[in-house]
Amino acid sequence: MSESKAKSLPGPWGLPILGNLLNLGSDEPHVALMKLAKEYGNVYQIRLGSRPVVVLCGQEAIRSALVRQPVAFAGRPDLASFQFIRKNTDVTVAFQTNDATWKLHRKLAESSIRFFVSGQRKSSLESTVTQEVESLINYWTNNNNNDDNLQIDPVNLIKLSVSNVMLWCILGKRHSLDDSRLREFVSKSDDFAVAVGSGNIADFMPWVRFVTVRTTQNLKKLLNTFRGWFMPYIEEHRLQYEQDSEKDILDYLVTSSNKLDEADLQQLGVSREALQISTVFDLFGAGFDTTSAIITWQLYYAIRHPAVIARVQAELDDVVGRDRLPNLTDRDHLPLTQAFLLETFRHSSVVPFTIPHSTTTDTTLLGYHIPKDTVVFVNLYSVHHDPDTWHRPSDFDPERFIDNETGLVDKTKADAIMPFGAGRRRCIGAEMGRIQSFLYFAILIHQCHVSSLDKASLDNKPIYGLTMRPSPFNICVSRR
Ligand code: HEM
Repeated sequence: MSESKAKSLPGPWGLPILGNLLNLGSDEPHVALMKLAKEYGNVYQIRLGSRPVVVLCGQEAIRSALVRQPVAFAGRPDLASFQFIRKNTDVTVAFQTNDATWKLHRKLAESSIRFFVSGQRKSSLESTVTQEVESLINYWTNNNNNDDNLQIDPVNLIKLSVSNVMLWCILGKRHSLDDSRLREFVSKSDDFAVAVGSGNIADFMPWVRFVTVRTTQNLKKLLNTFRGWFMPYIEEHRLQYEQDSEKDILDYLVTSSNKLDEADLQQLGVSREALQISTVFDLFGAGFDTTSAIITWQLYYAIRHPAVIARVQAELDDVVGRDRLPNLTDRDHLPLTQAFLLETFRHSSVVPFTIPHSTTTDTTLLGYHIPKDTVVFVNLYSVHHDPDTWHRPSDFDPERFIDNETGLVDKTKADAIMPFGAGRRRCIGAEMGRIQSFLYFAILIHQCHVSSLDKASLDNKPIYGLTMRPSPFNICVSRR
């Protein structure tokens, strides 16, 4: 359709100054924006402060934008929090718009992850994750003083455990789950996700000075904490680097960034060192928070649905037996276990919106005109809870992913979820996230009984952020 014939975007009327900020609701903007789509359609516009924001809901609108017009929707907006991160980190994959530096950086980061999740490295990743899950189970079961009813808050330990996997992949380091520095670092990570999630008020209302100043100072402190934490490891690692003997992702980054053309780097105004350091930050930041959140959701649903878990355990016992632990080659023979994981991704919508996108050119989407540099919120939750695709979407029902005739995972259904986004900005750690979430879940459920004595807390609303987590809950863990 020619741009002159394109329609202007529909959307709710907004208040002066605030725009539609109040329409976002205080704790579930993904639900509020999905509800607005019923009235205005799956492509509509809101205003946050004085800034227009296009909202995309449902498979068709999101795929039409991110997959069919990959370049037009691959930008990142110049929101206050993003600008701040860019200014304080030299280069960044996740928050940089799709310019030449981003392309080079993303290619480097993608190839470093591929190096780790394929070939020989995949089995060493598998054995590291397996070791970490075993340590986690030992920690839980050894610390309960033989009291199977002792309640533990699982969240922090899962974060510590996953951060160990990430540290091993990136820097070849691991810590004990009691390590005080690791604990301090992990406890700070949540604030970051809240600050950069879609709909952060300070991004749209810079005139709310006290909010902006507080949020900016928080972000600055957080980024400095991350840097202070990582730098000694990076320095130590560089001293021990041996050319062409890549033990971990940073080794690989040094080797491959050494191959980049000096003139190209100068033209982009970026150094090899900046690329290496920022990739370490990006991979750790993006990988640790999301992966630990999905594992927390797996435990949450396991406690809520003991009858399904009993069937998952029967499947694991049948396929794996009781004499060894589940491994990656079992994956294809465990349809119910896989269906449980797919339903966890769908129902939780752990990353409810992608990181905000922006248009890189004037464009037309499903008949609507969208100007260049428009902020775009991509509502993944709306894909996962669309009643036209999913029967009773608010029920947690892994069976929906099983093909009735074959008893195997229904591939079309599995492809209808989008936990990792789509198109040019799709998550580069999807396979690493899948490997980790499968092994954590399969080994924990194969080895342990998990339950909760405090069912009421499971009904609380999830905590919103760039990644969503269940409200705090306690679990009891005992060996089977
Ligand atoms: C279960 C785990 C994970 C989930 C659900 C997840 C999900 C996502 C989503 C939804 C996005 C945003 C895509 C967009 O803006 O359109 C994203 C981006 C990203 N993810 Fe993941 N992710 C996971 C694990 C990981 C891991 C393990 C890594 C790295 C080791 C990683 C690295 C990244 C990076 C670097 C980006 C930014 C890509 C870009 O802007 O070009 N993620 N992820």
